[in-house]
Amino acid sequence: MARPHIEPYVELDHPFKKFGVSGFKGSNYKVLSLDTDTGACTLKVRFDGGFKRKPGLSYSDMEIFVLNGKIKVGKQTWSEGHYAFIPAGMAVGAIEVSQGAEALLMFNDSEPSFVESDKNHQLALTDAFSSVNSYEDKPWGGGSIVSPSVATGCLIKLLHFDPLTEALSFLYCMTPRFAQDNISYHDSAEESYHIWGTSWMMQFGELPTGGYFWRPPYINHGSFRCKYGTIAFGRTDSVLFNYFHFNPWTNPDENKLRAASTLYRKRPQLYQWAASDGHNHPHGPPDFENADYHSDPQVRMLHGEPVGGSVGKKRRK
Ligand SMILES: [Fe+2]
Repeated sequence: MARPHIEPYVELDHPFKKFGVSGFKGSNYKVLSLDTDTGACTLKVRFDGGFKRKPGLSYSDMEIFVLNGKIKVGKQTWSEGHYAFIPAGMAVGAIEVSQGAEALLMFNDSEPSFVESDKNHQLALTDAFSSVNSYEDKPWGGGSIVSPSVATGCLIKLLHFDPLTEALSFLYCMTPRFAQDNISYHDSAEESYHIWGTSWMMQFGELPTGGYFWRPPYINHGSFRCKYGTIAFGRTDSVLFNYFHFNPWTNPDENKLRAASTLYRKRPQLYQWAASDGHNHPHGPPDFENADYHSDPQVRMLHGEPVGGSVGKKRRK
């Protein structure tokens, strides 16, 4: 079960709770979205002045976006607008917050965890680590990183791209008087947190500062309006493709069928082959170049299979 649809949710209307998990004591949290099976979640966290913790690692890929204040991590100081992707098992330096700070914390694979350590886990994929102040050290680009694209007036700073899932993390800005008239949906889930500003969407009304959504795939959203400008942090969980249309009454099943019809029209041979009898491979079709890909823990995780299982071994016999 993936995370449920939550939209619109205005976190500023809800109180913080004390964060009792080891490694987070002395901070407070609000859950913005949660996968109740895996524990993967997006939290808003408030670190009170005086928060300290030793160097350590998490068992989950983690992303952080600093909303305000200063967070000392090892020898660096992360201030507002700082974004970091910290792969599972990678140790980061001691954390110190002298005067309070707020951040979005995202645990992508499992519940928040912390193990004190000044060494990386031997399996940590440390090359994926990135750390940048997105406000100061990244330029705005046009929103047309995918095609078909959003209307002009939506700007993007791409912060992270996952080569396996093609998931994106980004900062985006709707310029004042931004307008887009069509309706969109995607094959991916979409998430957003409004750092500042209000925008309007036909289905869900106004989303103000502190507004949040986690929107599963194939849900209609749009048209859009933004009167005075909005800056927001957004993510997708897989490849972002814009399916546009003008029918506000369609449901996710109809949208999914329309998405499949795109495949039918654009890759007819592949569609016919995949849809015909005998090609229904529940663990993925054979790949002559990567015979063992079924047993890759990351592939298994993407398909909701237990990582330690033996599907790949059975296949090879
Ligand atoms: Fe979207």
